[in-house]
Amino acid sequence: MGAGDPGWVVLGAGGHARSVVDVLERAGHAVVAVSGADPTGDHGEPWHVDVLADDREAFELISARGLRAVVAIGANPARTGLVHELVARGLSVPPVVAATATVSARSVLGAGTVVLEHAHVGPSTRLGEAVIVNTGAVVEHDCRVGAGSHVAPGAVLLGGAAVGGGALVGSGARILPRVTVGSGATIGAGAVVTGHVADGQTVVGVPAVTRGTRRPGGTL
Ligand SMILES: CC(C)(COP(=O)(O)OP(=O)(O)OC[C@H]1O[C@@H](n2cnc3c(N)ncnc32)[C@H](O)[C@@H]1OP(=O)(O)O)[C@@H](O)C(=O)NCCC(=O)NCCS
Repeated sequence: MGAGDPGWVVLGAGGHARSVVDVLERAGHAVVAVSGADPTGDHGEPWHVDVLADDREAFELISARGLRAVVAIGANPARTGLVHELVARGLSVPPVVAATATVSARSVLGAGTVVLEHAHVGPSTRLGEAVIVNTGAVVEHDCRVGAGSHVAPGAVLLGGAAVGGGALVGSGARILPRVTVGSGATIGAGAVVTGHVADGQTVVGVPAVTRGTRRPGGTL
């Protein structure tokens, strides 16, 4: 554990939480506990850190011991809501950057944002709160990614691309330079996005075409 690092609590106990715990430990941090039920149930390996019953217990432990928090839940709304709550309570939710990730000193990462192993964030890029830049993903120079979005493993945002809040850029997808993707949009795995994607829209394929539009809070 680095000097002055009080240790971390990871909110979440599913697959994404396993990746984030690994990122923290490989970067030399101590993970004190995870919280919540593992959605994989009996199939998950036992945790090597304490498992708290729920997020309330996690909030209490973080406050009582002055620990740092990271929310490691893949679902965008749940993750974003918990990060906002932690920030509102004045708790410490710094960005997390993996040891093998490269993040430009001239980029800005919001509270609760995580950059996983082998990912890259370029200069003059801004990531909002509670963003995931997942394993091997690339967010190039001059990009914008809104709060609560997820850039999945191996996805690429080329220079000047912009993604609104609460969006999913699926694994291996490419967003071409200066193309914009609306809030709550879903980019299918492997898609190549060549033109603007509206709020809530789902696109798939090469080049990407529309599959549907999600109303706020609704389904396709
Ligand atoms: C695009 C996506 C959201 C669609 O999900 P869905 O609505 O549940 O779609 P379904 O699986 O029911 O498939 C519906 C159709 O779309 C096609 N399809 C699904 N995903 C596709 C993709 N990424 N590219 C092209 N076609 C796709 C299916 O083959 C199917 O075609 P059909 O109607 O001709 O049979 C999803 O498949 C996807 O790509 N999600 C991203 C996953 C990801 O990267 N997650 C990150 C985890 S860390």
